[in-house]
Amino acid sequence: MPIPADIVNEVKYRNDIESVISSYVELKKRGKNLVGLCPFHNEKTPSFTVYPENGSFYCFGCGVGGDVFSFIKLIENLDYADAIRYLAEKSGISIIETERDNSLQAMRNKIYDINRETAKFYHSYLMSEEGKWALSYLTGRGLKISTIKHFGLGAAPDSWDMLLKHLKNQGFSIDEMLAANVISKSSKGTYYDRFRKRVMFPIINVRGRVVAFSGRAMPGDDKQGGKYVNTSDTLVYKKSENLFGMNFAKNVCEERVILVEGNMDVVSLHQAGFENTVAALGTAFTAEEAKLLSRYTKEIVLTLDADAAGQKAVKRAGEILKDTGLNVRVIVVPDGKDPDEFIKKNGPERFKALLEGAVSEIEYKLLTAVEGIDVSSDDGKLKYLSKAADIIANTPDAIARDLYISRLSDKYGITRQTLENRVKEIRKQNARRKQTSEINRIINPRYERSTVMPEKNAYPAAVSAEENIIAVLLSHPDFTEYAKEKLDSSKFISSLCRRVYERMLELYNAGNDYDLSAFGETLNDNEMGYLASLLNGSRSGTNPLTVLKDSINVLFEEELKRKSIDSAKSSNEDWAQSLMKIIDNKNKGDK
Ligand code: CTP
Ligand code: MN
Repeated sequence: MPIPADIVNEVKYRNDIESVISSYVELKKRGKNLVGLCPFHNEKTPSFTVYPENGSFYCFGCGVGGDVFSFIKLIENLDYADAIRYLAEKSGISIIETERDNSLQAMRNKIYDINRETAKFYHSYLMSEEGKWALSYLTGRGLKISTIKHFGLGAAPDSWDMLLKHLKNQGFSIDEMLAANVISKSSKGTYYDRFRKRVMFPIINVRGRVVAFSGRAMPGDDKQGGKYVNTSDTLVYKKSENLFGMNFAKNVCEERVILVEGNMDVVSLHQAGFENTVAALGTAFTAEEAKLLSRYTKEIVLTLDADAAGQKAVKRAGEILKDTGLNVRVIVVPDGKDPDEFIKKNGPERFKALLEGAVSEIEYKLLTAVEGIDVSSDDGKLKYLSKAADIIANTPDAIARDLYISRLSDKYGITRQTLENRVKEIRKQNARRKQTSEINRIINPRYERSTVMPEKNAYPAAVSAEENIIAVLLSHPDFTEYAKEKLDSSKFISSLCRRVYERMLELYNAGNDYDLSAFGETLNDNEMGYLASLLNGSRSGTNPLTVLKDSINVLFEEELKRKSIDSAKSSNEDWAQSLMKIIDNKNKGDK
């Protein structure tokens, strides 16, 4: 039985192609897309391209391609349906169950209900006599009652089933509680509260709904189960797409957002008046979160924990943010403190001063590049300057480059010209490298299309038109109605394009949308790769409807041409045959 389309969509939504492929292939950003070394053939320059925009990938070197499931299929050696199941399992989506009742939306609503009820439960427990241990911990860390209420903080009791019983009394089923990830199942088959004896931070999305929880252990209890336990991804929550504090920050962060590491930092900075503070939830900052932020703000200030892990995280975040067009600055909180500790010790004014003095990302990179280098020696100076030249060369802004060249040459006592030349040289090298890889992409042996398109040699014009039609419809399924009226599938010459087109019409007639994934189960790997190449072929700047119309016209014209050639041919044959007959008869008569 095929897996229902809405489940396939759900699985795909939870497994964006960029992060799935990243766990197998090192990808680098190139414009809107990402490139890397193809895992399916041997290559030295990257021709393997991922297109996050339409959820596909394609290798210009060997021609593999498809959607996220095709990738898993190939790399994990599964069939297409099992690749879907594989990713479903990874993201906690139960295909069997959802196939049966098929009401994802109903389940989502249940999860929202459970989350709201659970947040209320934890909060009133925190405020009750029994929750004193947790409340005194929080107030002991400097939180006011009003702040605790503002964030709806709570506490999970030191019990295996208090929440479970409470939710049961409210009419929720075990399955629903599991789906909300507030309870867990033991190996013995019993169920128990996921969060126990912890301070609870409800995660509230920008629409104001409780989507998840983050639970912090009491000091000393950290060893059991970890310092934090968080909700895993559920039908309503994807960790990489949510930021703690965003429900408040979204209203006051037009100018800038402060990105911190910890939940406590968020709460404590909000209390101190910095309500534009958010935290990535226990994961490294992701591109999805960057996307979310770019809708609300112009500038991100990254705060830095002094430890190496913190620095690494901030560097990564900086890389991600660079592609969003957001302005990025960095503040280094002194003395290895996190912002929460800093503000408690030094007060909001000092934190504000830190904010004002936040350095740009390049300044920050130049600062940290010094680490481990003894710049008092000539050798060290040289080492640092060549690192610094690299950093400056990779800065797109010419004015910024100029500024830092001046500053560094002053600081390290070399001539401006020397440093400037070095930067120019690196930039030239980079540009050359980019060009060669572009050229490689073009001259590299391309995928041999004739294996999946045997008709292309005999009928190049018509088959190209068919390719255009399929390409347009793949990215604009809303034109199916138009195509359906104008073009019957019998007009297609290439069998692959005809099959794809027929499937498109079939899905459309059944009231379904389609994308690349609609073909994964019926096409083979070569055909899927070919389809991905069509989807990502360069047609930028051309109006898709015009392309569609023109291509349909070409198909008709080509058919006409073929017919007239055929009829000419056949009339030629007739003529030749009758001629032969006459000659024959004549010969007979002569004898
Ligand atoms: N985190 C996590 N799981 C862990 C440790 C940390 O999910 N085992 C996440 C949490 O979201 C946490 C953030 O990483 O808020 C930063 O961790 P840390 O600095 O250790 O925690 P703080 O929130 O600063 O906690 P505290 O100040 O109470 O020590
Ligand atoms: Mn902290």
